[in-house]
Amino acid sequence: MDRFDIRGGTRLAGRMTVHGSKNAALPLLAAALLTDEPVVLRDIPDLADIKSMLALLPKLGCTVDHQRVTDNELPGGVVNLHTTDTSVSHAPYEIVRTMRASICVLGPMLARRGLARVSLPGGCSIGERPVDLHIRGLQALGADITLDGGDITARVPRVNGKPGRLRGARVFLGGPFGSTVLGTANVMSAATLAEGRTIIECAACEPEIVDLANMLTAMGARISGAGSPRITIDGVERLKGVDHTVIPDRIEAGTYMCAALITNGDITIDNCPADALMAHIDRLQHAGAHFTIDDKGDPMRASVRVQGAGSRGIQPIEVTTQPHPGFPTDLQAQLMATLTLADGNSVVTERIFTERFLHVAELSRMGAGLFRQGPTVVVSGVRRLVGAPVMASDLRASACLVLAGLAAEGTTQINRVYHLDRGYQRMEETLVTLGAVIERVNEKEPAAS
Ligand code: EPU
Repeated sequence: MDRFDIRGGTRLAGRMTVHGSKNAALPLLAAALLTDEPVVLRDIPDLADIKSMLALLPKLGCTVDHQRVTDNELPGGVVNLHTTDTSVSHAPYEIVRTMRASICVLGPMLARRGLARVSLPGGCSIGERPVDLHIRGLQALGADITLDGGDITARVPRVNGKPGRLRGARVFLGGPFGSTVLGTANVMSAATLAEGRTIIECAACEPEIVDLANMLTAMGARISGAGSPRITIDGVERLKGVDHTVIPDRIEAGTYMCAALITNGDITIDNCPADALMAHIDRLQHAGAHFTIDDKGDPMRASVRVQGAGSRGIQPIEVTTQPHPGFPTDLQAQLMATLTLADGNSVVTERIFTERFLHVAELSRMGAGLFRQGPTVVVSGVRRLVGAPVMASDLRASACLVLAGLAAEGTTQINRVYHLDRGYQRMEETLVTLGAVIERVNEKEPAAS
């Protein structure tokens, strides 16, 4: 198991390029199950979660060819996919338990084959993560759904002994914490091949849903309203192949923005989806960061220079996580790390995953002043953090600890960085190019002195 050793206190400076988005790429890869023609996806990041999806798809009859090195200027690889065999439609527990996002094969398989069996994802370190809205949405389209042996089995009823089709319907996807991103992806993908019109109300508005809609439209789907809470889909009989480039990762970009502020650095972020990060940029500006945005005609692929707060120091702020376009839950932990060094008290409230606070205890071990009550943490800014051995507990909590380590005095040892590798492509290499003193250590090797 790898760990990071970070010697903090360096101001990060330089340029980096954002990779393709993990959370956009996962449903795009699953959408290859909707067609019998070849699909090409570009700028696919080299991450543990992507590898899990690329291991799952061949089990479902989709051939996968992943070329990691390409000659264009985008950092990610190219994946060629081709679904040639529809006889096996079971996503087994061995893979689903390593990655919850495996659930996004459910809608595409059901729509094209009339049958999908996907192991029900289990518990998760960031809190309870039910899939009731996915199930309700697909049932509204006419699927029969049963839970059996830990699997969700979804079937399209046969008509007069012949394979049937999903039927368009009005589907409401709001739950107690807002909409559902992967639930919207599942229902929207399934509805592309349904008979008639589907209207998804309270759809997720995240940029990853817009990217999926753009790809499905290029495949021949008829979708309008993606990016708004109401998406309309007019079903078609079949979808064709496509060549599509995934959007850049807004959470990776947002994490490096925090790195600039917490180290009082100066980082220029290329291929930056600034348009998808307005709430985060707003909060960081209030906390003292200075932004220069050159959108180069495409605000989803801007160059963004982020400079720290200088002698004024980081200012305290309030932030509440919300569905897009509100402040994203996936940047809550990273922003909290940044605010530990603010000049006063900040208030951080988590409204999407109300138990997503495993980083609080670890940050406290580094000297942060944190007081949690329910979904809210009061962050009393301290003058300094002190390096300590800490434990990464989930993907974004790990990134938060890396940020804290970059700013802390002394050495921070972050154990279990495999969590980080699920969502950040070789983060330590990027940080080194920005001047950080960070090393990946394999636990079997003796630690560097
Ligand atoms: N929810 C329900 N019922 C459902 C589905 C969700 O009540 O059927 C609740 C969840 O418990 C949560 C809220 O709705 O409180 C939102 O969950 P959502 O379904 O939107 O989450 P997701 O689609 O499973 C994606 C991202 C997460 C990100 C969330 C919220 C992917 C692969 N994952 O998950 O990303 O936090 O949306 O924006 O796209 C991460 O990258 O670190 C990560 C966890």
